[in-house]
Amino acid sequence: MRSVLVIGSGLTGLWTALSLADRGLDVNLVTKLNLMDSNTRYAQGGIAVAVSSDDSADLHAQDTILAGAGLCDLDAVRVLTEEGPAQLRALIEAGVRFDRERDGQLAVTLEAAHSRRRVVHALGDATGLEIERALAEKVSGHPRISIREHCFALDLVVDGRCRGAMVLDGEGEASFLAADATVLAAGGVGQVYRHTTNPETATGDAVGLAWRAGAELADMEFMQFHPTALSHPGVPTHLISEAVRGEGALLRNARGEAFMERYDSRRELAPRDVVSRAIAAEMAQDGRNFVWLNLRHLSPELVHSRFPNIVAFCRDHGFNLPQDMIPVAPAAHYFIGGVRTDLRGRTSIPGLYAAGEAAATGLHGANRLASNSLLEAAVFGRRVAEAIAGAESTGSQPVPDEGISSVPPTPTPHSLPSFSVAALRAELQAEMWRHVGLLRLEEGLQEALARITTWQDQVEAACQDSQARDLWELRNLLTSARLITEAAIWRKESRGVHARPDHPEMDDSCLKHFIQARSSLTPASTR
Ligand code: SIN
Repeated sequence: MRSVLVIGSGLTGLWTALSLADRGLDVNLVTKLNLMDSNTRYAQGGIAVAVSSDDSADLHAQDTILAGAGLCDLDAVRVLTEEGPAQLRALIEAGVRFDRERDGQLAVTLEAAHSRRRVVHALGDATGLEIERALAEKVSGHPRISIREHCFALDLVVDGRCRGAMVLDGEGEASFLAADATVLAAGGVGQVYRHTTNPETATGDAVGLAWRAGAELADMEFMQFHPTALSHPGVPTHLISEAVRGEGALLRNARGEAFMERYDSRRELAPRDVVSRAIAAEMAQDGRNFVWLNLRHLSPELVHSRFPNIVAFCRDHGFNLPQDMIPVAPAAHYFIGGVRTDLRGRTSIPGLYAAGEAAATGLHGANRLASNSLLEAAVFGRRVAEAIAGAESTGSQPVPDEGISSVPPTPTPHSLPSFSVAALRAELQAEMWRHVGLLRLEEGLQEALARITTWQDQVEAACQDSQARDLWELRNLLTSARLITEAAIWRKESRGVHARPDHPEMDDSCLKHFIQARSSLTPASTR
């Protein structure tokens, strides 16, 4: 095998690249900004693994399945929870320094819907940053990994199987990167929404690439909203980790009243879809765009040592913790849907793999259990590497050669579109927030779909004349938005993160994964 192309440099991309290289394969790792720019970098809470003596893979699985509201793929849950501890050990061996108690044991915290304290963390509340630091260091020094920063994947090249990708470098030059196997590790789609905890780079690139290549996507209606992002005029949306509530912080509405017990007996630690909708209801009732998160009763030592980065961010924006209450509101956070794969990361296109937030294995069902995503990235990233290396050693991957019959698209000049890309992106985000957000109604969904379709035609046409990155990111956002909206229209029930007040109950006739591909739109049965 000549080489593997890995697109994305979050935990999934870095871990897959290292696992491939350690198995003797050559890797081209492309990332559209710098190596450490990814969604992983912003992960606060941690990585959920059954490591304590009172915990087990079975208990972790039970919590995952309960949160998933009937739609979890049970085999995927078993793989995650059983293989998780070994991947945590492997991350530690790779140099990730997780927080420890005085006696040297891993420190574990609690997050919503976990029956045990099992969330391992680093740097207090900057787990993702520490993971990126350690793995970026390893990847940078690996002789088999070639890193291409500021390199944006425009399109996959598919000729019966995936042959690599057309990429755009930092100088705006397009070229073809050939690969015997290609891994989509390009993260999620949070930027499709006006309020999100995701960085600017989370533009649905994996969805756009896979869709245009003809791959199947699944579970696109399931966007998870985080209940507590800092919400204050002039301050960027910033995640306030669920671990803050895990350590005892309490929610109060704008009038200062406790409200969670009216919605769920688990109160602040109810599953995050429940907490998000409760907060939205209180905000609507009070006509405010926030509720308060109150940490005043917690010890300042605990708050400062467990959440140093949250404390620093809040201080920089005028809130002193724990004395001041923090104004918070829900924001788009984690994309459950994505490129449909099996448990080895194989997509519907030979030679194309996906893992992490880019992939949909069915693991999370209709609602992801907190802190399962970093674990998913490690477990399934390593599985993808094994699948690719295994296919190589058994010779089951035909080696692509001279005979690419569909010629990669010819680079075209950059001509300016007739509209403002930034303004259209903002309009799309506002539309998605309004009609395809926490609460979805048929009329609003149809309205959004009509608008998105019109914008899509405009942007698709402009992409024929320009390969500017911001324009192609908008193209990916629009593809993601359209697929999310269509899937949300199809799912005429409320389940997990997908809430339809016009269909408020769970309906067992909808106990299916919705699979979308350019060739067909098929609701498929639960695997
Ligand atoms: C958080 O720290 O609240 C986020 C954890 C997660 O999304 O899994």
